Amino acid sequence: MGKKPMASDQHDLEDFIRRLPKAELHLHLEGTILPSTLVELSARHDARPITLPEAEALYRFTDFTGFLEAFKAVCQQLIGPEDYELAAWRMMQHLAAQGVVHAEVFVSVGVVYHWTTSSEQEPFEPIFASLERARERAVRELGLSIYWIFDAVRHFTVEEAERVFRKAAEMQPHYPSIIGIGLGGDERRAGSEPFRALYAEAACAGLRLTNHAGETTGPEAIREALAIGSERIGHALSAVKDFYLVEELKERGIPLELNPTSNVRTGVCHSFAQHPLRHYFDAGLLVTLNSDDPAFFGSDLANEFLLAHTQQNFTREELRRLAANSINASFLPALNKAEWLFQIDSIK
Ligand code: ADE
Ligand code: ZN
Repeated sequence: MGKKPMASDQHDLEDFIRRLPKAELHLHLEGTILPSTLVELSARHDARPITLPEAEALYRFTDFTGFLEAFKAVCQQLIGPEDYELAAWRMMQHLAAQGVVHAEVFVSVGVVYHWTTSSEQEPFEPIFASLERARERAVRELGLSIYWIFDAVRHFTVEEAERVFRKAAEMQPHYPSIIGIGLGGDERRAGSEPFRALYAEAACAGLRLTNHAGETTGPEAIREALAIGSERIGHALSAVKDFYLVEELKERGIPLELNPTSNVRTGVCHSFAQHPLRHYFDAGLLVTLNSDDPAFFGSDLANEFLLAHTQQNFTREELRRLAANSINASFLPALNKAEWLFQIDSIK
């Protein structure tokens, strides 16, 4: 038989990617809100709701600062529990449609607290109840499992991060879906060292520790994140500049949550083809592919897998290894990991 035409090859590969059980480990709930959903949210809250072209214009940032401003504007449209529930349920439907079987999702709890004064009643618990409703529905109707990671904003104050992490510790015994904590925001304005004691306290409370590092900053930011006990590193784009750091990440089996399209769209990496994904993978690092803020970057996890193939020549077997890495690097219990790994191996 002759070789099948290209379009059919691509279709086969897309189908293979969708059937591969995958975990998404670096995904911001707020970053999954599409312009169309933003319009809907604005119609709920604003006297003069934004139009779709205005919403689309907001997502056309050209650098990291512009991205953070757009992210903030979207967060400001998430006001009540019903807004969060809508966003969460849509996110979960989209995850399931891509063959994502498990996701560990950042919720910007730091943003919720930032906009409420201390005299107002606790704002986050009703919001969290709505997220849990969406999560339980996703387990029932989509067979999708979700863990929550409470994310603080590093360029706000340390006290604000403390409030976020203590809330996670306080709620976690009642909600096992709260798996850990993280730090996002602008690394150029705050590193990891100021949060050392808070990370230690969170670890003592049984929370898992993630951290954005080396996205807009150099390899020293990744070393600093490791020094405060971060278990997984988000982005780690600049590790490639430091041979000894790459060796350490490999030796310690530190999972990297890579986000290639995100890095291209925020202007910190020239192109997907030039992203260090391939370099790290070939060096034997525990790399995972993720979409970060897919609605802002016009991508999703399945598309990141496809781009790994088209832009960096990842073969089917290598894509299978990326899927296995995502399960291995997750915070799932060992038994669940073993089950998914078995299924990943069996996909034809
Ligand atoms: N919050 C949401 N997305 C982020 C990113 N890529 N970097 C830092 N903080 C974020
Ligand atoms: Zn992120």
